[in-house]
Amino acid sequence: GKGNYPHFMLKEIFEQPRTVKRTLDVYTHPAHQTLGLPRAAADQINLADVSSIYMVSCGTAHYATRVSEYWFEQLAGVPSKTDIASEFRYRRPALAKNSIAVFVSQSGETADTLAALRYCKEQGIKTVAIVNVQTSTIAREADVVLPTYAGPEIGVASTKAFTAQLVVLLAFAVAIAEAQGHLDEAEVAALSNDILTVNSAIEKALSLDDVIKKEVIHFEQAADAFYLGRGVYYPLALEGALKLKEISYIHAEGFASGELKHGPIALITAKTPVVFIAPFDDLFEKSLSNLQEVAARSGPVLLLSDEKGIAHAGSAPTRSIALPNTPEIIMPIVQTVALQLLAYHAAVALGTDVDQPRNLAKSVTVE
Ligand code: M6R
Repeated sequence: GKGNYPHFMLKEIFEQPRTVKRTLDVYTHPAHQTLGLPRAAADQINLADVSSIYMVSCGTAHYATRVSEYWFEQLAGVPSKTDIASEFRYRRPALAKNSIAVFVSQSGETADTLAALRYCKEQGIKTVAIVNVQTSTIAREADVVLPTYAGPEIGVASTKAFTAQLVVLLAFAVAIAEAQGHLDEAEVAALSNDILTVNSAIEKALSLDDVIKKEVIHFEQAADAFYLGRGVYYPLALEGALKLKEISYIHAEGFASGELKHGPIALITAKTPVVFIAPFDDLFEKSLSNLQEVAARSGPVLLLSDEKGIAHAGSAPTRSIALPNTPEIIMPIVQTVALQLLAYHAAVALGTDVDQPRNLAKSVTVE
């Protein structure tokens, strides 16, 4: 049941400290407290020999892989490529030797993702499934299964499955980085330490629920909304926009902040709320100048950042939310929680059917 929550979606958002912890525990070495893959999976994949990674999935699962692309490349130095399953399967891409293919799916039944998996098996490359439903077809057919432990997800809008996917992908990236000597023991230990604070960071983000709820005023009367981010926050902008459009029916798009000048800025008016996802990091100054460009065209800006970022932004954003200060590596997960709550409260304010949005099915078993 929904317990004390009005919707499954809200219940599932609030379950994340536990579902993320439960998932992370399985990917944490009990004695060393370092992240990695369970022994059998690591051996089967042969982590030291992986030369490149293809990741194939749909919807929110696809955005999880797009976030993880930065981790596989930056932490592990392994070239990675992501694709939408419906594109991948019909393109029949040429696959590099010693590459592996990773399929991410909550349900494990998504038709296009399954077809892409079968294609990769035919091509003879190793297939890895990151799935929430362990008895699913994708889990059965893949060579290696890395489960997420989000528990049953009822809300059509994926929330806790997404954050569980992110932590498994992060553990996977750390495991490859270590196996290939891209990170040494001390670096793995330090990084793991940071990552293992994620559930308390999620708790802190959830405690801002009332603050975030007030910010839905940002979307009042909006027909269109834009989400902008750079680096790892670019795919999160796509995910934030997907969440909003799915359940509130407000037309929302995510863009890479750097692309603003290459087209999207033409859309900015006083009636197009923009959400900037920009913690105070190396790319912050770049994001801030994009934010100022939007503000200069009267675009109302909601800045999702941290105290430092908000202090630096001064009066440029119309509104802002200060998320907890956390290690940089887990900030995308903390930002995710804010994006979920923002979409949820916007939908509730508009009176839509949050758990069963129109036209959508929880699992897309036909293409
Ligand atoms: O079960 P899957 O993870 O394979 O599903 C993929 C997408 O259909 C799914 O993430 C969809 O985009 C959700 N409604 C997003 O909230």
